[in-house]
Amino acid sequence: MPDPLKDKKIVLGVCGGIAAYKAVDLLRVLVKSGSHIRVIMTRSARAFVGPLTFEALSGHPVWTHMFGRQENTPLQHIAWADEADAVVIAPATANIIGKMAHGIADDPLTTFVLAVRAPILVCPSMNVHMYENRAVQDNIKRLDQIGIKVLPPGTGSLACGHEGRGRLPDVEAIAEELRSLLCPQDLVGERILVTAGPTQEPIDPVRFISNPSSGKMGYALARVARRRGAQVLLISGPTVLPDPQGVSMIRVSTSQEMFNAVMDHVEQTTIIVKAAAVSDWRPVSLFEHKIKKEEVTQPLRLEQTPDILKVLGEKKKGQVLVGFAAETQNLRENACAKLTAKNLDLIVANLVGQTDSGFGSDTNQASLFYRDGRTEALPLMDKEDLAGIILDKVLEIKKA
Ligand code: PMT
Repeated sequence: MPDPLKDKKIVLGVCGGIAAYKAVDLLRVLVKSGSHIRVIMTRSARAFVGPLTFEALSGHPVWTHMFGRQENTPLQHIAWADEADAVVIAPATANIIGKMAHGIADDPLTTFVLAVRAPILVCPSMNVHMYENRAVQDNIKRLDQIGIKVLPPGTGSLACGHEGRGRLPDVEAIAEELRSLLCPQDLVGERILVTAGPTQEPIDPVRFISNPSSGKMGYALARVARRRGAQVLLISGPTVLPDPQGVSMIRVSTSQEMFNAVMDHVEQTTIIVKAAAVSDWRPVSLFEHKIKKEEVTQPLRLEQTPDILKVLGEKKKGQVLVGFAAETQNLRENACAKLTAKNLDLIVANLVGQTDSGFGSDTNQASLFYRDGRTEALPLMDKEDLAGIILDKVLEIKKA
């Protein structure tokens, strides 16, 4: 699935708060994702940051005064509202939240917002006591009732010196929420379990058996599924990737831990996608202390790890089960053998051992093999695009 922010017309509303400077970074992230951004600033926002910065980064004049015309139309609030694909207000003050909740239109931003039919995302940021104030909370509930999405603020130390809820969420998290608003919500009601990353099978306290999986493929699946409205549980081996926004995470290390975590949650799922590169082997025994070179007198004894996917195939009760096959040769034969042996609905076979496909890369080249014998060879593409296609195919299988 291409980045939902690409080529979208987004209006960024900036209100007066300490976090107004973070709106500059948000603008930069949105522009980098390929969006076209228009900015509206309230009078108080201009007390914190100058419009020129937003103008330079968006490439458009910033709308600051209701009757100060910048474009060729006297009805700028209608023109911008008509062409917007989405609106984000960050930071949103208690004042703007109150006005939006009650339909007040007394400046460019509030007037514009009333005319918008596209999805709106409001990102409150303020002092914790203001945020917890009953009137503000009632107004936030009202926004939710009238179909405006509110991204709850983060918790931590606030600019006013207090600790608590009120921090503007990370700009990447805001961008991710916007992506979700722009996506079709065709996975609402689905509970998807995704596994990702490698496992590490310890030999002694400092050594382990593993593989080069970065987790990128599985994390892309979790992100895209969540954007499309699914409830997602990501069970991940060790990776350096950040937890995807809005996804429940369980981090594990060994194949046994991954097995236990998957089995604990399988009953509650409707779709399972196993992108993790689970080690097939582990040492029979774990050495208590670091093995010295001179102590190694015989080969390391290995045993097979539990085959998680195979057990899932045996136990499955109505879930759509998708496996991956990482192959360096005989893609079709090996993938089809796994599809049958593990009772899968779909297997995604990718060639590994290449720089732009498989382990570690941002792109992947895969072929899909179905239970009914159908196959599809896909071109090289971004892992998020492949994730989108896999989820489309899962929905087709569910509907068949
Ligand atoms: O993480 P990245 O760097 O983005 O790389 C992505 C990837 C190459 C790891 C991914 O696209 C991929 O191919 N994942 C599956 C890797 C793998 O273990 O393939 P396999 O052919 O050895 O295993 C087949 C299937 O059985 C897989 O779904 C695997 O999760 C599962 N399995 C394997 C062994 C085991 N003990 N338990 C399992 O559940």
